[in-house]
Amino acid sequence: GRGSVRKFRVWRGDAKGGSLENFEVEVNEGEVVLDIIHRLQATQTPDLAVRWNCKAGKCGSCSMEINGKPRLGCMTRMSSFEPDEVVTVTPLRTFPVIRDLVTDVSFNYEKARETPAFAPPPGVAPGDYRMQQLDVERSQEFRKCIECFLCQNTCHVVRDHEENKEAFAGPRFFIRAAELDMHPLDARTDRKEYAQAEQGLGFCNITKCCTEVCPEHIKITDNAIIPMKERVVDRRFDPIVFLGRKIFRR
Ligand code: SF4
Ligand code: F3S
Ligand code: FES
Repeated sequence: GRGSVRKFRVWRGDAKGGSLENFEVEVNEGEVVLDIIHRLQATQTPDLAVRWNCKAGKCGSCSMEINGKPRLGCMTRMSSFEPDEVVTVTPLRTFPVIRDLVTDVSFNYEKARETPAFAPPPGVAPGDYRMQQLDVERSQEFRKCIECFLCQNTCHVVRDHEENKEAFAGPRFFIRAAELDMHPLDARTDRKEYAQAEQGLGFCNITKCCTEVCPEHIKITDNAIIPMKERVVDRRFDPIVFLGRKIFRR
């Protein structure tokens, strides 16, 4: 069909500050928010900064906030808004702005580096790793993560609390911990204890906002966080384990 002219608002600025800028822009059938941003770059504002790559919901680059909701720009159809609705696009709120819609997501890379990597049991050569198909499938869901960091951006523990960032790895790294915890060959560390002691799992009060925004529909809270928490609780408060620990320490 023929295009229509729609109202579009984009945050422009950098680390020192910025403001919303209004545009009127052509929108055609089937287009997504990222298409509109590209049209603005082509026609009205060539220096508008945005990060993108695949335009297929798979690279995780085009994370932004659209009408206040964390979304992928390439997967948000313009037809999902009312025809007269102003569409407002702002950068992710939890990470520092570099310019316009581009934020510095290095918080997430730091947390990734801090997560102990997979390590097989000693004495098992790479060619000898064997896993049951069932064990492969159990964590398959978590390996769908595209690292868009929308969950990290949304979690209220860090969203407006810069001071919590150091102690909190965030939902993306809780699913990584859960994935390794389910891995029958991972022998590096007790992932549940580690998540509690080092990744700040205790900060999470299961609000599930992370799950709601995940474009891969990973059940972050139900399938990763809650099982990790439950097992930590089991171990800490199981009287036999507790007694065993006390006796062992003497
Ligand atoms: Fe994105 Fe989902 Fe991965 Fe979080 S878990 S980074 S929301 S794909
Ligand atoms: Fe944050 Fe998700 Fe927990 S939004 S509080 S990590 S359930
Ligand atoms: Fe790759 Fe949107 S451009 S996920």
